[in-house]
This record gives sequence, C-alpha cells and structure tokens, in this order.
Amino acid sequence: MVKSSKLPGFYKLSIEERQKIVKEFAELTPEEISLLSNSGSLTLDIADRMIENVIGVMHIPLGIATNFLINGKEYLIPMAIEEPSVVAAASNGAKMFRSSGGIYTNSTEPLMIGQVQLVNIRDPYSARVKILREKDKILEVANEKDPVLVSLGGGAKALNAKVIDTIRGKMLIVELLIDCKDAMGANVVNTMCEAVAPILAELSGGDYRLRIVSNLATYRLVRATGMVNKEILGGEKTVDRIIDAYAFALADPYRATTHNKGIMNGISAIALATGNDTRAIEAGAHAYAAKNGRYRPLSVWEKNEEGDLVGSLELPLAVGIIGGATRSNPLAKVCLKILGVKTARELAEVMCAVGLAQNLAALKALATEGIQRGHMELHARNIAIMAGAKGDLIDEVAKRLVEEGVIRIDKAKEILRELGSL
Ligand code: MEV
Repeated sequence: MVKSSKLPGFYKLSIEERQKIVKEFAELTPEEISLLSNSGSLTLDIADRMIENVIGVMHIPLGIATNFLINGKEYLIPMAIEEPSVVAAASNGAKMFRSSGGIYTNSTEPLMIGQVQLVNIRDPYSARVKILREKDKILEVANEKDPVLVSLGGGAKALNAKVIDTIRGKMLIVELLIDCKDAMGANVVNTMCEAVAPILAELSGGDYRLRIVSNLATYRLVRATGMVNKEILGGEKTVDRIIDAYAFALADPYRATTHNKGIMNGISAIALATGNDTRAIEAGAHAYAAKNGRYRPLSVWEKNEEGDLVGSLELPLAVGIIGGATRSNPLAKVCLKILGVKTARELAEVMCAVGLAQNLAALKALATEGIQRGHMELHARNIAIMAGAKGDLIDEVAKRLVEEGVIRIDKAKEILRELGSL
C-alpha cells in the first residue's frame, strides 16, 4: 500500500473511522488502538510513578494533522492540544506546502550544553586556560557516567569555558557539549556536570555551584523550509500580504511574540503528544528568538524570483524518543509510532516542519480574511456533528449556521430536521 497523509475529508469521519485509517497508516496493533480509545491509558498507577502527590490524570484531546510531506516522506502528525483550529490550521498549512513539493528539513547533531558555575576564583582567566588544557581528562570523567551513550557514539564531546561578569563578581562558567543521541538529555547532562564539577573546582582553585543543563540548546538546531506557489495562495498579492505580516513581526516584539506563539502551537502539541518536555522547548525557542538582543520572529518569509512564497524556520529543539515520559506514558509511545520517526533528530525535524506549516496557515488567514471566520466554521462544524450531522451534511449544516449567525445545537438540529435527516 502506498501511504499518503493526504486524506481529504478526514475531519468528516467518525473517530472510529479516523482510528482505522491511522491504524493502517502506522500499522498499529489492536492494543495500541484501544489505548487511543481508552483515555485512561495513563493509569493512576503509572501517573503516581511519574510525578509526586498524584491525585488524578488530566486529559487533553489528541488530533491528527494531515497532508505532511517532509523530505519526500509522508507523515501523520499526532497533536495533543486544547485549542480549537490548531490541528486544522497545521493540516491546511501542510496542504499548501505539499502542492509545491512539501517541506524540507535539516538539523545539527543532538548536542546539549551543560553548565558548571565556578565562583571564588582569584585568577579566573588563567583558571580558564588550566581547565581548557585538561579538556580530555574532564571529558573522560564525564563519559565514565554513561558508557552506553558513549558506545552509541554519544557522550561529552567538547568543552568551553567563559569568564562572565555578574553582580557577585567574576565567575568562570564551564560548558560541556554532550551528544545525547535519541534522548532529550537533561538527565545525562546534569549527571555529567555533577561528575566533573569537583575536578573543575580543584583546577580553578575556586568552588562549584550550579551544575545543570542549559535549555538554550544552540548546538541542537533544526531547520525547515518550503515554498508555496503564488497561485495556491490566490496570487502574488497574498504573497506580499504574508510578507507584510512577517515584516510587522520583525519590527515589533509584541507581534513577534504572537507570531512565535503560533509556531509553538504546532511544536508544543507534538511535544506533549510524544511525552517531551514542552517547557524546555518553549524556553529554548523564545530565548533563541531574542539571541541577537531583540526578540524576533523565529521564521523568515521571502518571495522568490517567480513571486512565490518561501518560508524557513530555525530553532533549537531538544526532544527525545527514549527516556522520560516518551516511554512511561503509553500514549506517547503510540504517538511516536504514528509519526514513524526513527531518531530524535527526525522527530525534531518533523516538529520544525509542523511549526512552519502552522505559521503559514496563521499568516495566510491573518493577512487575508482574518482568523475568526475559520474559527467560526470549525466551531459550527463541531456543533453540526454534536447535533447528529454525518458525511456531507456536516459542511452543509455548518455553512447554514455560519450564514445565519447562530451557532447552537438547537439551531443545528432544526436545520437537520428541515433537511429531513433527523
Ligand atoms: C493563535 O493560537 C495563534 C495565532 O495568534 C498566531 C499568529 O497570530 O500568528 C493565530
């Protein structure tokens, strides 16, 4: 079977019909499907082992974004999110990119930064050189902490040291660069930092304080780019309007924040679905957006020679497919299987592509008709379904609800009765 994520009318299907399609696409087992249906798959027992003081489990809708063609491969995207319109917008953005060949991505090695803070140093600059001279020994001590990671080609690879001025005087900050392979890596990074801190303190003649991962993972970058033919957007005028929207975000941090929030709608929803740390990702993304001293949009929108729209997105993405909730939450495992990603890098690249598609859909709507019409249509569709509409009737009833400006179940039922289907 040739797999395609292009599934027109997916939204009109029943949940069971959608599950069947996803089951076939991702070759899910009946047990995995039953995990999807059973919102209690994260049992109290598992939850109690994940965090402290557990009293329950909080559920969030899990949707599938369609149409994603990334590096020539078809992906169905699981998104866990409470906000309406995000899944539809991602699918819509992906559809626009898809018609011009899809989205292409690239990423660096999954290198995380771990920081060790050294204080009370009499001669911090010479201490810095002493530490740099002992680099190999320090990396060796760090790597002894995770022979498995090292055997897989990961582990501590490099070391930086910088003297910083603080309100408490000069400090020496030593940074380990650790290849975390398929893990997000916070645990291994923290463990390695703690292991090398005493040696660093001795070499520097000072004391160590913090030993912790940095969530500004500037060596773990991911990029996505895609082109949208101007005709798909309804002409070059729309291309210009989208670039005007980007120019607004570039010039004004108030707009850039919302622009980036839209990008993170897609990225964080996948992070949540796959059991990744959404806060680490958000912190890193927003700090990266301000890396040149002023907060900017994470994406760039340009026009190519033919007048088509070209978008690109770059951000740090520290995500894993092993360890933590990616493994302990049963649904996270199912979501990773649906994605079909083989490495953490592939997951990060898919997330970046989704962020770009999400941004495109938002900018297209905002720069043309505004986002409220789409929101209302979706809301009307949901109301139509709740009133009992099926198949093509969903769109028909939704259209009437929007036209008549009354988006309520009783009205939807009235329309269904008029159409003779209730
Ligand atoms: C809403 O969740 C996201 C948007 O505000 C993003 C944007 O304004 O670009 C629509």
